Amino acid sequence: APNPNAVSRKNSMGVNFSNDNELKAMAEAVNAHAGPWTAEPLVPGAAAGNVTVPVTNPADRRQRVGSYVSADAATVDIALKNALAAQPGWDRLPAASRAAILEHAADLLEARRGEFIALCVREAGKNLPDAIAEIREAADFLRYYAAMARRLFGQPEQLPGPTGESNQLFLNGRGVFVSISPWNFPLAIFLGQVSAALAAGNAVIAKPAEQTSLIGHLAVKLLHEAGVPADVLQFVPGDGAVVGVALTKDPRVAGVAFTGSTDTAWAINRALAARNAPIAALIAETGGQNAMIADSSALPEQIVKDVIASAFQSAGQRCSAARVLFVQDDIADKVIAMLAGAMAELQVGDPGLLSTDLGPVIDEDALKILVDHAARMDREAKKIAEVTLDPARTEHGSFFAPRAYEIASLDVLQREIFGPVLHVIRWKANDLAGVVEQINAAGYGLTLGIHSRIDDTVDYLATHTRVGNCYVNRNQIGAVVGVQPFGGENLSGTGPKAGGPHYLLRFATERTLTINT
Ligand code: SER
Repeated sequence: APNPNAVSRKNSMGVNFSNDNELKAMAEAVNAHAGPWTAEPLVPGAAAGNVTVPVTNPADRRQRVGSYVSADAATVDIALKNALAAQPGWDRLPAASRAAILEHAADLLEARRGEFIALCVREAGKNLPDAIAEIREAADFLRYYAAMARRLFGQPEQLPGPTGESNQLFLNGRGVFVSISPWNFPLAIFLGQVSAALAAGNAVIAKPAEQTSLIGHLAVKLLHEAGVPADVLQFVPGDGAVVGVALTKDPRVAGVAFTGSTDTAWAINRALAARNAPIAALIAETGGQNAMIADSSALPEQIVKDVIASAFQSAGQRCSAARVLFVQDDIADKVIAMLAGAMAELQVGDPGLLSTDLGPVIDEDALKILVDHAARMDREAKKIAEVTLDPARTEHGSFFAPRAYEIASLDVLQREIFGPVLHVIRWKANDLAGVVEQINAAGYGLTLGIHSRIDDTVDYLATHTRVGNCYVNRNQIGAVVGVQPFGGENLSGTGPKAGGPHYLLRFATERTLTINT
């Protein structure tokens, strides 16, 4: 008989790039949506806000994408009241009913992918392959957490006991969950956090990154249409200093799912701890100082292909991205020369073209941090390569030329550099332990790439580095839901891993029922 607990589910297929008809249909669907889009808080009973924020295209700031209305503290208060009242009813629904709504949302998302792709390109500066990957990953999260809710929350676990006593373990939602999500995966991580909290029986207040409020709004409307009640899932766009702070200091909040910088995770943790309230759950996925380590047994062509994808895909704006390549000194000159050659081929430009490898970075603040870092590296490190940019692009868009520098050690990088900058460090054959020490001393622990054909080296590195996701002889980005559960250790996050079998448990509370029959 089929196992009722089996998670039967297939990951989304996306768009087949070798099929002209499919590509043409996608291009037409995308072109049919040029905006402008508008977004407002989705909080039943709240007054219409009056702070309207314009949204422009990071690839060309002259293009207006739309605008959103910021939530204020009064709106946040009403959202919390609504959520608190609505959560018990949502939690009492059978898990299969919540799961069916999330699965319906995944179907709607795929059917309407044109508008979502268009918005990912225009609001977030994603290139087309990345925008398509967003839709796929978001649909995968919806279906995966639906399947996990059926499996974990569908029925209580029956436990042993003495004759005449029944023992059962139930999983329930914790209460009101806040989701604070990032701009770099404005659909996938946004919907991942929201759908996990919903699947587990929580009411959710979703605060998107300011930079990608329009995408968040469209995603919440989609979930409402699929059947999530308006007071069970509410949307509060706005400034982190206003909306994020009002939410995380409120004693009514039972948990926060956050993805973003380590500094913000600390601030959230402090705000939650300072409340005179039940201790909240915090699930934080934060930054990384991710390394790829290559020894001289690895194929230089493969190293270069994988480090280019890991460092520069998505304009380096992935928390999983490779920031440092440790290359063994006897192949270093060859790898560095090949790297410079491969970087010269990178196309930086209009994210709406299939030929574009890198679009813009998200905004002028992000650009300034990268420009300042590059100025420091120009003074203190040896430049390996810098891609030439079309000046017409930089005049109106937040474009940054991908670069690579050779540095002496990881100590040179004081903080996470979130963009298309790769650093290369040479290491000597007898000093693998020194490489591991540098990586662990940096304090982060998200992804690690290993390129080696020596099993002992792979084993040593995989067991001595403290990282959440380790990839061998391939790139180190693009974790797939249910295939590579994703998340780090130490300064990189609290776990549990997104897209993994234990994620929903942190959104839940456990209750034991003992009956003397
Ligand atoms: N999940 C993403 C990746 O694996 C996050 O950065 O690349």
